[in-house]
Amino acid sequence: MEKEDLPQLGEWFNKPEVFGEYNPLRQMSRTEVEKILESPLELKPFIIEKKDGSKIGFVAHFYVLHVAGKLLEIGYSLVPSERGKGYCTEAVKIMVDYLFLSRDTMRIQACTDKRNLASQKVLDKAGFKKEGTMRKYFFIRGELRDAFLYSILREEWKEPQILTKTAAQS
Ligand SMILES: CC(C)(COP(=O)(O)OP(=O)(O)OC[C@H]1O[C@@H](n2cnc3c(N)ncnc32)[C@H](O)[C@@H]1OP(=O)(O)O)[C@@H](O)C(=O)NCCC(=O)NCCS
Repeated sequence: MEKEDLPQLGEWFNKPEVFGEYNPLRQMSRTEVEKILESPLELKPFIIEKKDGSKIGFVAHFYVLHVAGKLLEIGYSLVPSERGKGYCTEAVKIMVDYLFLSRDTMRIQACTDKRNLASQKVLDKAGFKKEGTMRKYFFIRGELRDAFLYSILREEWKEPQILTKTAAQS
């Protein structure tokens, strides 16, 4: 993501339909959006762009702090009109390739509301495994909701699924 994509990201962050019904509502001022890249979570959003140049969503990596060290986590959202076409699965696979190729990490994790079947399918298809339930993990629309924790380990990834193929073809 480039600095000029910040207004687009801000627009998505402020539209409840982009994060969908299984994510907490969030509101971000322009100033907060401008500071997003300085986040202590080291949040790094990547724009999901189609071949025709249209920007349809994002996949991001960030750190979850833990006394034992930093845990690498990903999150993603697509505009409603582009869902169900396989784009997010492709984006997550590319992100997993990128992170295992560029970081010295053993695992990448993701968490999703228990009711979010589309997101769970994306993680399944990208090779993640369900680790368990995190009870009352998200506060969504006035209620505490359970979430599933997923992860993919380096030894389960084995080799890049998309990234090197794309590089070799170009
Ligand atoms: C979750 C999300 C990113 C998925 O993106 P996507 O590009 O539509 O995902 P894909 O097309 O790669 O795969 C989605 C899969 O879920 C399935 N699916 C979609 N809605 C579903 C539902 N309500 N119940 C069951 N399966 C569903 C699709 O059929 C597809 O499976 P298939 O490949 O076997 O047909 C998208 O729905 C979204 O942006 N949701 C709102 C934000 C969000 O929830 N982000 C995740 C936070 S953890």
